[in-house]
Amino acid sequence: MRGVVRVECVPIMVIIRKPDEIEKIRESNLIVAEILNALKKEVRVGVTTKELDEYCEELTRKWGAKPAFKGYRGYPYALCTSINHEVVHGMPSHRRLKEGDILSLDFGVYYNGYYGDAAITVPVGEVSKEARRLIKVTEEALYRGIEEAKAGNRLGDISAAVQTHVESAGFSVVRDFVGHGIGSELHEDPQIPNFGTPGRGVLLREGMVLAIEPMVNAGSYRVKVLDDGWTVVTEDGSLSAHFEHSIAITPNGPDILSLKRK
Ligand code: MF3
Ligand code: CO
Repeated sequence: MRGVVRVECVPIMVIIRKPDEIEKIRESNLIVAEILNALKKEVRVGVTTKELDEYCEELTRKWGAKPAFKGYRGYPYALCTSINHEVVHGMPSHRRLKEGDILSLDFGVYYNGYYGDAAITVPVGEVSKEARRLIKVTEEALYRGIEEAKAGNRLGDISAAVQTHVESAGFSVVRDFVGHGIGSELHEDPQIPNFGTPGRGVLLREGMVLAIEPMVNAGSYRVKVLDDGWTVVTEDGSLSAHFEHSIAITPNGPDILSLKRK
């Protein structure tokens, strides 16, 4: 017998940004892009994630920005560094990167009233073929999601595009963490799951600014949080990758704010 299903209405407030606000959010995101790019160049065998975090802070200061994550719900570092089976929110430490590791760098800033947020996953030295494929598929999934971020589509179109790409490659999307709106807060409505149904969810409109961030596991989608209260790892110990861009929905479609225009 089927029980009674109570559908709760959760009010959500998605902010529509004017072009001048979007340009300010772009500035913050371009700082994030520059810093992630600089950090990527420092990723090599023997470097500690703490050293990367310190360099990250130094660069953030030079740009005149504030690290967005430091102090956020008590998170103690500027950067999130998630190695191998760590999914997100890995904390910088004295652990040295070794050949074959994969490292996710997730970083955000607050600058001139607005937030920027982006993430990349990079190989340390030579990595396995499977690790390379995981990184590639995760980044592709991000772009599949971004392509769906246009006015008239629905949130579920983004989610489904990410999920379909990931699962057709034989990987899984993390369910317990999501992307988000971004602007004058680091996390704004709507939440953006990396799984879903096309045509469902919030109607996408020009002026929405979204941080889309697929977290992809090589094995099961199940994750757990370690006792440090932050580090999210795959339950089965399989590798995990993470990419994130902040984008604006414009009359010309999605505009990636955390990417330098060539
Ligand atoms: N990019 C992540 C997010 O959007 C980073 C948050 S980490 C925290 O949620 F430390 F700030 F919590
Ligand atoms: Co984010």
